[in-house]
Parts: sequence; C-alpha cells; structure tokens
Amino acid sequence: MGSVLNSTTFSVLVLLTFSLFFTSKQSSIHAQELHNAVKALVAPIKKTNSSVYTTSLKINSNQNQQLIVDLSSPVLSFPCCWFSNPNGIQTNVTINSTNGRNPTGDVTLQSFNTSCNETSVAGLARSPQSLSSQLISKLSLKNQFGICMPDSLSPQGVIFFGSEPYEIMWPYYPVDLSKVITYLPLVIHPEDGSYMLTLTGLALNYTQILSFKPGTTALLSTTNPYTKLRSDIYHPFVDAFTKATVAYPRVSSVEPFELCFNYGSIPASRVGYYVPLIDLMLDGGKNWTIFGYNTITRASEEALCLGFVDGGMNMEHAVVIGAFQMENNFLLFDEEKSRLGFSSTILFMRANCGGFNFTSV
Ligand SMILES: *[C@@H]1O[C@H](CO)[C@@H](O)[C@H](O)[C@H]1NC(C)=O
Ligand SMILES: *[C@@H]1O[C@H](CO)[C@@H](O)[C@H](O)[C@H]1NC(C)=O
Ligand SMILES: *[C@@H]1O[C@H](CO)[C@@H](O)[C@H](O)[C@H]1NC(C)=O
Ligand SMILES: *[C@@H]1O[C@H](CO)[C@@H](O)[C@H](O)[C@H]1NC(C)=O
Ligand SMILES: *[C@@H]1O[C@H](CO)[C@@H](O)[C@H](O)[C@H]1NC(C)=O
Ligand SMILES: *[C@@H]1O[C@H](CO)[C@@H](O)[C@H](O)[C@H]1NC(C)=O
Ligand SMILES: *[C@@H]1O[C@H](CO)[C@@H](O)[C@H](O)[C@H]1NC(C)=O
Ligand SMILES: *[C@@H]1O[C@H](CO)[C@@H](O)[C@H](O)[C@H]1NC(C)=O
Repeated sequence: MGSVLNSTTFSVLVLLTFSLFFTSKQSSIHAQELHNAVKALVAPIKKTNSSVYTTSLKINSNQNQQLIVDLSSPVLSFPCCWFSNPNGIQTNVTINSTNGRNPTGDVTLQSFNTSCNETSVAGLARSPQSLSSQLISKLSLKNQFGICMPDSLSPQGVIFFGSEPYEIMWPYYPVDLSKVITYLPLVIHPEDGSYMLTLTGLALNYTQILSFKPGTTALLSTTNPYTKLRSDIYHPFVDAFTKATVAYPRVSSVEPFELCFNYGSIPASRVGYYVPLIDLMLDGGKNWTIFGYNTITRASEEALCLGFVDGGMNMEHAVVIGAFQMENNFLLFDEEKSRLGFSSTILFMRANCGGFNFTSV
C-alpha cells in the first residue's frame, strides 16, 4: 500500500514539476513573443485647468497615475514619499501597445530607474533615464517618439513611442501624422538632454523683424504654458505685433500678457484668429510657423491676448517655446537622426490632437 502511495505521489510530483516548468517556460516565451510583436506604445495627454499637461500610466499595480509631461526632464520621477529609498526602488510601468490606430492592450515593463520629486514627472529628454528612452530600450522600439498636445477643448492629446504610423481621425478617415511633417534640425543640450532649435531670426507677416547672433537657441518646453522671449526680443516683437494689429480694438492687459484685444473683435479662420503669422526662422532656412490659434489666447471673458510672455534678460535660451504654441502641432522627436519632425498646425487639415481613437482593439 505504502509503496503504491509513494509511487503515485512520486508520479504526481513529477507531473506537477514538469507541468509547472512547462507552464512557466511557455508563459515566458509567450511574454517574449508579445514584447517582440510590440512596435509602438501610446498614452493620452490631458491639459488641466492650470495649463499643466499630464499623461497617464499604470505604476506597479496601482491605478493609473497622472504624470507631468516634461520634454526637458531627463528622468522618470515619482513623489519622494512613495519610496522608502528616496533615490528609487525599481518600478514597473504599464502602458498600452498600439497598431498606430487604436490601443492594443496593456504591456507591463519592469525595473524602471526613477528619481524622486514633488510630483510625478514623465521626463522625455534624450537621456538613458527618461521615460521615453527606457520604454524604447526595454522593447527595442524604433528610437523616436511623437507628441500631439491637446488644447483646452479636446479631451486628450496623444503621445506615441516607437514606429509610425501615428494615426488620428480626420473627420472621416485616419491620417498618419508621421506623413504630414517636415524635418527641422534638433540640437540636444549636452547636460540634460533637452531639445533645442537654433534660431536665426524672427519674422512677422513674412517680414523679418529681428536677426539673431549665431548660436541663439530656443528650448522646447512643455512645462512653460506660454512661449517666453528674452526682453530684447520680446519688446521689438510686441511693438511690431501692435503695429500690425492696429485695426483691432484694445482692452487692458491681463497678467502675464501685455497686448490684449476686445473679445469678439478679431475675425477667426480655421487656424485661429486672423493675426499676422509668426515665423521662428531656423538655422538651415526652415521656419517654425505659428498661426493665430497658437498666437492668441483667451485670457478673460472680454480679453484675447498675445500669448507670449517677457522672460527678462537672464534666460539660458533666448526663446523658450511653450506648450500653448505646440497645441495641435504634431512633433516627432527622431532620436536616431537628431531631427524634429514638425507638422505646424494640423487644424489646416481639419484635424486636431484630440483625434486619436483610444478605444482598444
Ligand atoms: C477646472 O475646470 C472645471 C470645469 O471647467 C471646474 O469644474 C473645476 O472647478 C476647475 N478646477 C480648478 C482647480 O480650477
Ligand atoms: C514588478 O514586477 C515583478 C514581476 O511581476 C514583481 O515581482 C515586482 O514585485 C513588481 N514590483 C513592484 C514594485 O510592484
Ligand atoms: C489602455 O487603453 C484602454 C482603452 O483606452 C484603457 O482603458 C486602459 O486604461 C489603458 N491602459 C493603461 C495602462 O493606461
Ligand atoms: C539603472 O540603474 C542601475 C543601478 O543604478 C544601473 O546599473 C543601470 O545602468 C541604470 N539603467 C539605465 C538605463 O540607466
Ligand atoms: C522636479 O520636476 C520638475 C519638472 O520636471 C523639474 O523642473 C525640477 O527640476 C525637478 N526637481 C528636482 C529636484 O529634480
Ligand atoms: C521662412 O520665413 C521667412 C519670413 O517669413 C520667409 O521669408 C521664408 O521664405 C520662410 N522660409 C521657408 C522655407 O518657408
Ligand atoms: C501682411 O503683409 C501683406 C503684404 O505685405 C499686407 O498686405 C498685409 O496688410 C499685412 N498684414 C498685416 C496684418 O500687417
Ligand atoms: C474607434 O475604434 C473602434 C475600434 O476599432 C471602432 O469601433 C470605432 O468606430 C472607432 N471610432 C471612430 C470614431 O472611428
């Protein structure tokens, strides 16, 4: 009896051990295959009332967390109080994979290096510890990410990591944002990996009003709500803009803006209020062109204001391009080739950054 029991127990154990081994081997192969099949990831971007732009990720097994989208931060940060070890424990991140048109399911990646800060920050700078670099390297994705910043009216914008296509709904069918861009030369800040453009001048309504010294830079910043200009650029720019818009009735300034117009007095087109175009003229001859929608902001019930602010004289960069000026513009950060794919405003195509279909397939 005993030996029968023993041999049965033995067989069961052998079977159990074998099937456990087999199952875990299967599931790890399965996970590996899933990861190999992932070509791109996607997450939403929301604009809060206070003009903070956040994305949403699942961190460890908690609910989704909102993280500030920061193009110039070199790290992925969480509140210091989350950690017993203030310089990071290892963290797992869950994010949707995508086929470029819809989310295709959660992917959990392990062992992210993190930093501690007052708040959660999704750093996207060119640094091994940024969220973008860690996602791309863990899945061996194509070394690029694309960002489409929402305005106050759209429920959410979108960020893609990895291979195109990056499709949003045009009114009736999808358009691939990676096909509507031209490339601008991108300069990487040697210390923090933030992204810069080299400026040669500034033009208003196709007339150059300022030319800059060689090496003048513009930082791309999603944590500055509006573009900041160094005072020696800001003043002549506002003067020229004032002259070019004498036809529109003025109202008192609304902090932090100086030049404000009577709400309702400026005619609007598909690309926003009808005001002179602004060209940030770049090294190489191309421009970052800013249309009315990214120029004029509603600052109060009765005021529409020129959405640029005076940054004073002590700025590291002559210009800091802020988030409002990026809204409804698609930006592709091609890390491999150090270049920026730039769509200018996609409102021209009757599309906007709220057009990604976040329904899973
Ligand atoms: C943000 O806006 C919503 C809707 O307009 C409003 O209900 C809410 O109180 C606002 N929150 C803050 C912090 O201003
Ligand atoms: C991360 O995932 C691994 C594997 O599932 C798990 O063992 C670990 O506890 C997770 N880490 C945290 C902080 O949840
Ligand atoms: C993935 O997308 C689905 C559908 O939009 C959403 O419900 C889910 O929360 C997303 N997963 C993560 C980790 O954000
Ligand atoms: C993450 O941190 C570990 C330990 O400090 C380090 O060995 C590793 O190189 C870091 N990974 C990246 C991508 O920087
Ligand atoms: C905290 O995060 C903000 C936004 O990314 C950044 O400006 C600041 O330098 C960070 N602080 C520290 C101590 O890292
Ligand atoms: C850039 O802007 C300037 C000033 O508006 C204009 O003269 C020039 O033709 C533009 N360059 C391109 C390539 O569009
Ligand atoms: C822009 O320039 C064109 C051609 O030089 C001119 O006709 C037009 O009045 C200008 N618009 C403004 C707002 O200055
Ligand atoms: C979004 O995608 C889902 C899943 O493919 C589809 O059923 C739905 O019609 C799409 N919505 C729009 C507005 O295209």
